[in-house]
Amino acid sequence: MSEAMRNLAFLRTNQAYVAERLPVTGRMPAWLEGTLVRNGPGQMQVGERRFRHWFDGFAMLHAFSFANGSVSYTGKFLETRARAEAEAEGRITFTEFATDPCRSLFARAMALFTHRVTDNAKVSIGHFADRFLAMTETAIQVEFDPETLKRVGVFTYEDAEVGQMTTAHPHIVDGAMYNVVTRFGPASQVRAYRVDASLRRERLASVGVSKPSYMHSFAITPNYLIVTAFPFVVNPLALLLWLRPFIENFAWEPQRGTPILVFDRHTGRLVGRHEAEPFFGFHHVNAFERGSELVLDIVAYPDADIVTHYYLERLTAPDLRLPHGRLTRFTVPLEGGSVRSEVLSEACIELPRIDYEGYNMRPEQRYVYGIGLQPGGEGGFYDQLIKIDTQSGSTRTWHAPECFPGEPVFVPAPERRGEDDGVLLSVVLDAADGRSFLLVLDAHDLQEVARATLPQALMIGFHGAFVPSDPGSAS
Ligand SMILES: [Fe+2]
Repeated sequence: MSEAMRNLAFLRTNQAYVAERLPVTGRMPAWLEGTLVRNGPGQMQVGERRFRHWFDGFAMLHAFSFANGSVSYTGKFLETRARAEAEAEGRITFTEFATDPCRSLFARAMALFTHRVTDNAKVSIGHFADRFLAMTETAIQVEFDPETLKRVGVFTYEDAEVGQMTTAHPHIVDGAMYNVVTRFGPASQVRAYRVDASLRRERLASVGVSKPSYMHSFAITPNYLIVTAFPFVVNPLALLLWLRPFIENFAWEPQRGTPILVFDRHTGRLVGRHEAEPFFGFHHVNAFERGSELVLDIVAYPDADIVTHYYLERLTAPDLRLPHGRLTRFTVPLEGGSVRSEVLSEACIELPRIDYEGYNMRPEQRYVYGIGLQPGGEGGFYDQLIKIDTQSGSTRTWHAPECFPGEPVFVPAPERRGEDDGVLLSVVLDAADGRSFLLVLDAHDLQEVARATLPQALMIGFHGAFVPSDPGSAS
């Protein structure tokens, strides 16, 4: 990875920007009408201090709107207390994932219950009940206007802001939004919530845990909600003292195995507790029921070392070697017996996406899209887009010299003829050009359809969502 790339991708500050018409090469599909909204870090430095981790930076929203073959773009920092205060005071004042403000030991004492929770929601985008949410793992999810990207309000699962962690990947199924909340304390709990279209919150389930796991996502099926308790765990007393940044209180304890907690999605009752081998993952990809078995597809790692690889110091090191996430299928026998695992593809994959609206929870779901590392490359950051066929294990890829693509978002074609009949949208950083572009690929063969070039480089972000102009037209 070149020094220019390191700086462009991770270390600088993006500029807010509006472009009514981006230059397009190729031909945007005429049917592609709607908005891709993406989230991720846009600023890594405040005054003399730099955030330490990829998951720390101040949230920036990017909206790409498609109409009549042209593309407009709006990029704007999410309006948060965390960034406003940092700008006003010239220093980091809120605790982020792996960066704490400079504080005295006294101020750290009992920090879990006294510190202010960041509203820097920089991980993902939720679209639920006609609302748009910028989401992260703290209690505060920020609602914004999809056109202006201005802040509208906040949403929380529980009224208290402190002492809890949510996943950045709620499931939206059957007109409801489900999420898992971990409450830290002397008696920690994992709780499941269901939110209806009027944003009424209902606590579905609650189970005590002695050492809560770091969980970035969970799984859902028509009848179950499944929590994978990776053995990357925290002693809640460590969070009470808060002597280290949040994530540095977690430790890898493989002797715990990986408990898989199965809840009845309708009653909230804990109906099964199974155990898989020790492994770690950020992302559940899909889950479904097959007879008396549950099938969970997860991007799995042998341990949690990937978290430390995302420190900026590691990411920007010339000898970066990222651990490879692998699409792995875990089969859970609900009536007893051991959990089985099978690697579906040896190819490296992260930021996995499926056609969620069309195929989530369905056994016939076949294709997974993501970013990955070119085999035989010299290391460095994710440098290709990949499509894995979970039936055959075969892959297709897209890559180009000095190009670093972000999460691919699938958009189905109207009157589609198959699961992969549509396009993938990915924001690609072209390090040689010093700019980013919005890439449109045919989701079937990963051939380029068109691209729209931005006037600046965008830092490498995380997740996004595509919302059709007419919600009925592209589903
Ligand atoms: Fe994620």
